[in-house]
Amino acid sequence: MKDNKLVTAVIGAGMIANKAHIPAYKSLPEQVSIEAVFDKREEAAAQTTQAHNIPFHYTDAERMLREIRPNLVSVCTPNMSHAAYVRMALENGCNVLCEKPLAMTWKETRALYDLAKEKGRLLMACQTLRYGEEYLAAKEMADAGMLGDIYFAEFAAIRRRGIPKWGVFHRKEDNGGGALCDLGVHLIDALVWLMGSPAFKSVSGYTAAHIAQHEKNVISSIVESGAPAGVTRALKYQPEEFEVEEFAAGTLQFENGINVNFKTSWALNLPPQFGLSIAGTKAGLTLPDLKLYTVMGRYQTDIVPKVFKEGPHAKEPFSGHFALIKNAVDHLMYGAPVLVTPEQTLTVAAVIDAFYLSAKLQREVRAEEVYTA
Ligand SMILES: NC(=O)c1ccc[n+]([C@@H]2O[C@H](COP(=O)([O-])OP(=O)(O)OC[C@H]3O[C@@H](n4cnc5c(N)ncnc54)[C@H](O)[C@@H]3O)[C@@H](O)[C@H]2O)c1
Repeated sequence: MKDNKLVTAVIGAGMIANKAHIPAYKSLPEQVSIEAVFDKREEAAAQTTQAHNIPFHYTDAERMLREIRPNLVSVCTPNMSHAAYVRMALENGCNVLCEKPLAMTWKETRALYDLAKEKGRLLMACQTLRYGEEYLAAKEMADAGMLGDIYFAEFAAIRRRGIPKWGVFHRKEDNGGGALCDLGVHLIDALVWLMGSPAFKSVSGYTAAHIAQHEKNVISSIVESGAPAGVTRALKYQPEEFEVEEFAAGTLQFENGINVNFKTSWALNLPPQFGLSIAGTKAGLTLPDLKLYTVMGRYQTDIVPKVFKEGPHAKEPFSGHFALIKNAVDHLMYGAPVLVTPEQTLTVAAVIDAFYLSAKLQREVRAEEVYTA
């Protein structure tokens, strides 16, 4: 702590650090002092500290953690380096917020949470979708029993030509996977949470990559590739570099009998779509445009709750990060409960791990197979 404020530092100085994590820390000047940024590219670390008026930049993460001794660290590098930096930060006594997904396997994710527990530190995945006002309202309604018993859900995150045009999302050694672990992870997480964290049972998954490696010169926008206000470094996309799935679909089963159908894509010859729906014995709902489908007396009835998005950062493109970071800071300073729990993130990790195994083996994979791998 410094002047009764949490000392924070950021690992990885790309889009999400510059557009979400750092502005969110800076929005809490009474509780947080952001002291340093690390990136393996010195120009990225230096530019970031300059742009945000942060005192120190580093190209050696371990050294930054030793010298700055942050209370809280954000890990904002590409997926496949998350686990190593989370481990390094926990070993150095830091609380950690890590971009999603924490790791590509359940086992590795479990090991990170075991380490966090051993060190007595917070480790939280940046599952920011659920901090949206309409998602929080839906959770309140589901918890109040307004849906009855949930037995079916589905989610879709479809981009027509939305392969990320920046960063390394399309490289397996950096990103681990494609559309599912980039887009699907948000909706899997939101659903697990909304459905009351049921135990994951099995998945049948399917992946495809027919368009991204072959199609050339189709006009698409940066907006379509998912970073409307956040891109700092647009790269010329090289189809031959594409190594992950552009399309992922499947069916999940949970131990309490809930079935979930899903499809996610970066490139698909179908209209764009993003959202989820949940059906229960009393009512169903859709998100992000929150609407309930039920009956009143003899009449089928649609209900559109009024959800006012009026918070101080509601208009920010990454408003969920502002809310998540405030939640973590309030937890560390005042003991507020965190919204994203280790158990939920472990369920998401198990789903992702089992999904890729199922797609590879072309058969249903049960949760035990990843728990005992
Ligand atoms: N929650 C969300 O809405 C959201 C949105 C976008 C990205 N993300 C996540 O944020 C993470 C980063 O994405 P981004 O869009 O900022 O990518 P980016 O490519 O813009 O930035 C990544 C940064 O990490 C640095 N880097 C790469 N490998 C490194 C390594 N091994 N060690 C140190 N630095 C390294 C790069 O130099 C770059 O500055 C990813 O995990 C991604 O899934 C989350």
